[in-house]
Order: sequence, then C-alpha cells, then structure tokens
Amino acid sequence: MFERLERMPDDPILGLMAAFRADPDTRKVDLGVGVYRDDRGETPVLAAVRRAEQAVLARQTSKTYVAPVGNAGFNQCMERLVFGDGHAALQAGRIRTIQAPGGCGALRVGAELIKLAMPEATVHVSMPTWANHVPLLTGSGIKLERYPYYDATSGGVNFGAMMAALDRLPQRAVVLLHGSCHNPTGADLSAAQWREVLALVAQRGLLPYIDMAYQGLGTGVAEDALGVRLFAAELPELIVAVSCSKNFGLYRERTGALHIVSQTTQSADAILSQLARIARTIYSMPPDHGAAIVQEVLSNEALRGAWLDEVGAMRTRITSLRRDLVARLAQACPQRDFSFIERQRGMFSYLGVNVDQVRALRERHHVYLTDDSRINIAGLRSDNIGYFAESVAQVLAASK
Ligand SMILES: Cc1ncc(COP(=O)(O)O)c(C=O)c1O
Repeated sequence: MFERLERMPDDPILGLMAAFRADPDTRKVDLGVGVYRDDRGETPVLAAVRRAEQAVLARQTSKTYVAPVGNAGFNQCMERLVFGDGHAALQAGRIRTIQAPGGCGALRVGAELIKLAMPEATVHVSMPTWANHVPLLTGSGIKLERYPYYDATSGGVNFGAMMAALDRLPQRAVVLLHGSCHNPTGADLSAAQWREVLALVAQRGLLPYIDMAYQGLGTGVAEDALGVRLFAAELPELIVAVSCSKNFGLYRERTGALHIVSQTTQSADAILSQLARIARTIYSMPPDHGAAIVQEVLSNEALRGAWLDEVGAMRTRITSLRRDLVARLAQACPQRDFSFIERQRGMFSYLGVNVDQVRALRERHHVYLTDDSRINIAGLRSDNIGYFAESVAQVLAASK
C-alpha cells in the first residue's frame, strides 16, 4: 500500500537551514528561519520562563491527563493577556478558550470549527500570507481565497485595494487577519485602519479570524492586541488563534490558545463543547508543560514583570536593528530606498530583491534568505549587519 506514496518535495526553509549548516564560511548569515535571536545569534530560554519552569516542576505531583480544553488556569491567563483585564466581552461571559498545541494547533482547531459551523465556508487570506496558513486552514476542508494586502512600492499595506476586495465578499465570509507583525511582510494595519476594517466587517457580516503569533514583539503587549480588543468589543463573533512560541520563546513546547467570541454565554458554551470534541478527534489533549509555564509566568506578579521586561527587550532589539539596517543600507546603496523597513513591525520584512539576487546573496555572500526575499530581522547582529548591508549593495550593483 505504501509503495504508491510519492516523496514530498523538501520544505524550502528546512533546505535553507541545511545549506546554511553545511556552509563553512565564517561570515555566513542566517536570515531564513523564523525564530527570534539575540545579539549572539542564540534563541535562549527566557529567564522568567526558566524560573516558572522550575516552580512548575517542583510543584508537580502527577502527570495524569488534564482535559481536552487543556489547563483552565492557562486559558484564563491567556484571555486576560489577549483581550485585556476587564474587557467587556470577558465580563459578559462571551469568550471561550481552548489550549492548543501551538499557534498552528489553534489555527487548525479554528478551521475545523468553521468547517463544522459552515461547511461551505471560504477563508480569505492576505496576499501574501504566512505559507503555513494554507495547509493549516485548507486541511480542514474549507476553501481558501486571497485578498490584496502588501504594497511592494511603499512597503506598506495597499489599504484601498484590501478594503475594496473585502467590500465585495459575501456575508459570513471568513477573513484572516494578522494581529500584529504581519508574516512575511512586517506591514501592519494602523489603529485607524483597524477601525475601518472593523466597520466594514460589521456592515457586511464577515467573520474575522485573527492570528496573533507575535503579541509584544511589534509595538507593545497591549498595542499589538488592539485589533483583537476592538473587534471583540464591537462584533458578535470573532475567532482568535494565539501562539506563545515567540513571545514566551516556547517554540518546541507547542503552546497556544484558540479564543472564540460569540454572541451569548449559551452559544459560547456550545462552542466550547464542540472545540473539546474537535480536540479529542485530532490529538485528544494538548501538551501540558508549556501552558503550565505560561500560567505560572502570567499569574505570578514578579515573573510577569520579568517577562514583560524580556519581551520589551526583544522588541527593542528588533526595532533598533530595523533602524540600524536602514541607516547602513542608505549608506551602502544610496540609490535605493529601504526606509520602509523601519516603518514595519515584527521579525520579518521583504527585502524586495528578485530570486536571482537572493541566490547571489546566498552563493556569493553566504547570506541565507528565502526566495521571496523575506528576511528575519532578528537574525542580524551587531557584528554582521554591516556585512549584510554591504552584500546587498554588491548584489544590487552587480545586477544593474
Ligand atoms: C503568522 C504565524 N502564525 C502562527 C504561527 C504559529 O506558530 P507555532 O505553531 O509554532 O506556535 C507562526 C509561527 O511562525 C506564525 O508566523
């Protein structure tokens, strides 16, 4: 039976990682993989996470099952982190949460819920969007379409085209939005634009599905959740998938949550029972360890403060790398405007070079980025940012 299965093509990012590892050149720069890195190029365990982990292990007396919806304490902490303490929808009992295996798990459970409620649903994703959105959402059987989003000329959002496309969608179409730090472009909606999208979504009866994988890494923990909080206050229904991989550095612990906002506490309870059933049919229960750590961090005031400082330090590092990179590129290749990189948020930007130039960066300069020219800003360091800017300048000059 298995003889019939064909070999899948290699994942481009994994291929890039392997090529990077095999490259013996000491100047090599890895801007491919989407993980946060410090100025030594490491992805460390956060100090607050380390302390919380020790407390969790010291207290743990059993490894027995928790529940399909996961750890109730974690779910509550996440609701407060994402929606903000005292949010009207929380107080009205309109939000239900299921712990999920990472943001990916949350996205998939959300897609399964949509499929269950609306078997004919189509989810509309931004052009471009994070590549994994496609298999995670369509894997449940829902259809996928795209709306215009990124404006390569300005490095911002083509808001007019986006709004015109959303304005043509039928009622109950699902619209996937990135909460902050848009992956792969770094181009985010402004506060005013979130409000305009909200008005349109409300007027046309669309269902927003917000993916928030970078809360705290853009402008601030509360600021990055602005869209989620506004939408939850004004709309009857909303889906929010959250990842703790980046802002807690818990990548391999597979920690995330799916929040559903619905109109009444009754429908909210019905939805939670459906979410639990969906979990049981896929993986039964989410892994406990990462969620127990997040619960400890968020419910202990000292740990929470320490964590907020660490998220702040990650954010500041990314923002100053963006500023520094723009300055160095302006010096190395003054004929080209890279100032958009400083206006963008989060870990990613499109450098805006073509595939041949991406290959030249890799082959001649040992700089690794994906073919679409996405760079992980956090992969830059004070000791290689100059080399990177010079390499870009040389590749641009060579292809004139
Ligand atoms: C936009 C976006 N959503 C969701 C995720 C989910 O990540 P994880 O499943 O590792 O929590 C990521 C991770 O890279 C992401 O970039």
